[in-house]
This record gives sequence, structure tokens and C-alpha cells, in this order.
Amino acid sequence: MKRSLKRSLLLRAGATGAMTTVTIAALLAPAQAGDVAKGRKIAAVKCQMCHGLDGQAKLPEAPHLSGQTEQYILTQMKAFRDKTRKNDMMSLVVPTLSDDDVADVAAYYSAIEVKIVKVPGE
Ligand code: HEC
Repeated sequence: MKRSLKRSLLLRAGATGAMTTVTIAALLAPAQAGDVAKGRKIAAVKCQMCHGLDGQAKLPEAPHLSGQTEQYILTQMKAFRDKTRKNDMMSLVVPTLSDDDVADVAAYYSAIEVKIVKVPGE
């Protein structure tokens, strides 16, 4: 009895979760999704010295990119390009990237899987 209730709750939560995920993904999906393999090649040449090929920052002033959403990375890259967000290092990098390059690196970094091991207080 207890077991089947838990199972049915899990199934329901799973169905709702899946639906929500699909809906949100559809809303956030960029017009043209980037190519992860191409993004990795670009990241290896243009991003890894500061953000790491694994998306873990190699400079104290650079943020981690792995674990970040594709949409957020895209938005920030666009902000650096149109100079609404300014940073000396990023300003040197963004002019070297095409629209496709930006979509590809966003797809690559957001596709890296991260695992939370410890959350303080939990
Ligand atoms: C020379 C070092 C350097 C290189 C190379 C570099 N970045 Fe950055 N990047 C930074 C720094 C430093 C920041 C933090 C900017 C700030 O403080 O506003 C940053 C910020 C960002 C952010 C914003 C992240 C956030 O959490 O808001 C994104 C996205 C990003 N970089 C993507 C890239 C990509 C993609 C590449 C390669 C195409 C790249 N960067 C290459 C140094 C670099």
C-alpha cells in the first residue's frame, strides 16, 4: 500500500517534471541550437586558458562556465558583444566569434555535466 502510493506519487512527479522541462526548454531554446562538437573545438583554442576546457575557471577573476545554462551563456556573450557588459578580457575574445561560434560554445559549455557533492547545511 505504502509502496504503491509512493510509486504513484513518483510517477506523477515524473510526468509533471518532464512536462515542465519540455515546456521550459521550448521557451528558452535559441532559434538555432549550437553544435557541441564545434563548440569544444572553439573552446579549446579561445576559452580554455581562462575558463578551462571543463568549464572550471583557471583564473581567479574568471567564472566557471560548466553547470551554466545555454541561454545564460548566450545572453552574456551577446552583452559582451554589444558592450552592455564590459570586461577587458572578454572584450578581446568576442570580436573573434561569429554568431554560430557563440551558439556553439554556449552549447558546449552548457552540455558539460556537473555534480553537486556538498551543500553546506544539508
Ligand atoms: C583571457 C581570459 C578569458 C578568455 C580567453 C575568455 N574569457 Fe570569458 N571571461 C573572462 C573573465 C575574466 C570573465 C568575467 C567578466 C566579468 O567580471 O564581468 C569572463 C566572463 C565570461 C562569461 C560570463 C559568465 C557569467 O557567469 O556571467 C561568459 C559566458 C564567458 N566569459 C564565455 C567565454 C567564452 C565562451 C570564451 C571563449 C570563446 C571566453 N569566455 C574566453 C575571461 C576570459
